[in-house]
Amino acid sequence: MKLQYSEQIDLARRWVEDATCIVVLTGAGISAESGVPTFRGEDGLWKSFRPEELANPEAFQRDPKLVWEWYDWRRGLVAATVPNAGHEALVEIEAKTDNFVLITQNVDGLHDRAGSKNTLKLHGDLWRVRCLACGQVSENREVPLRTLPPKCDCGGMLRPDIVWFGEALPFEIMDAAWSAASEADLLLVIGTSALVQPAASLPLRAKEHGAQVIEVNVEKTVITPYADLSLIGKAADLLPQLVS
Ligand code: OAD
Repeated sequence: MKLQYSEQIDLARRWVEDATCIVVLTGAGISAESGVPTFRGEDGLWKSFRPEELANPEAFQRDPKLVWEWYDWRRGLVAATVPNAGHEALVEIEAKTDNFVLITQNVDGLHDRAGSKNTLKLHGDLWRVRCLACGQVSENREVPLRTLPPKCDCGGMLRPDIVWFGEALPFEIMDAAWSAASEADLLLVIGTSALVQPAASLPLRAKEHGAQVIEVNVEKTVITPYADLSLIGKAADLLPQLVS
């Protein structure tokens, strides 16, 4: 029997209430209502470059200044935003749940600013830089950056501390994400096209290990066919409704 939309939301709320181990996987869609462009929409484009063309080590080697200009633009854009009701609802769910892990593909830092605590950042952090010479990772919140590309105190060139296409995800973080997905009794997958691996496999992993999967997205995705519930709508509207 097909449930009405309001019944689906009631059911999802009950699952969230009852679960003792909740894992959440977020993508760019959760930050859309904050005004951060998603990657795979028209508004994600910068000077007509696709993200894949810039977020890779070869592009950086070829033209570090161009890649840094893109990141500087994104840092400026994100700095002017604030977390939305979707980010805040996840903070509330975390506070009410015995075991909670938030796995995010986002590098914008909005989950941190909302107050999420147990977070695994799969793709790095827009506000961290890494030195190509000495390897040191540090926080850098300067907007806009004074020099592009920015330099480390040791004189080496800094790169964004972000996992680019063609690079491996940090082992400990991915390992922790796999374990969390295997142990979850409920996995929420929010605002991701689920087209980028290995993040995209986490919901399936959770499902295979017995978790219920709820998807929140403005449209159907590759996750939809195996999600136990697919809530179509904006994360900022729907997530607060899942918090009783
Ligand atoms: P995408 O841009 O691929 O997908 C965004 C998803 O959010 C789409 O499925 C939209 O339908 C959905 N969406 C848009 N607005 C929404 C809203 N208000 N509420 C709910 N859903 C909404 O972004 P990701 O899946 O996050 O990697 O992309 C994955 C990775 O690809 C990113 O982390 C990034 C990118 O290249 C790196 O930068 C390494």
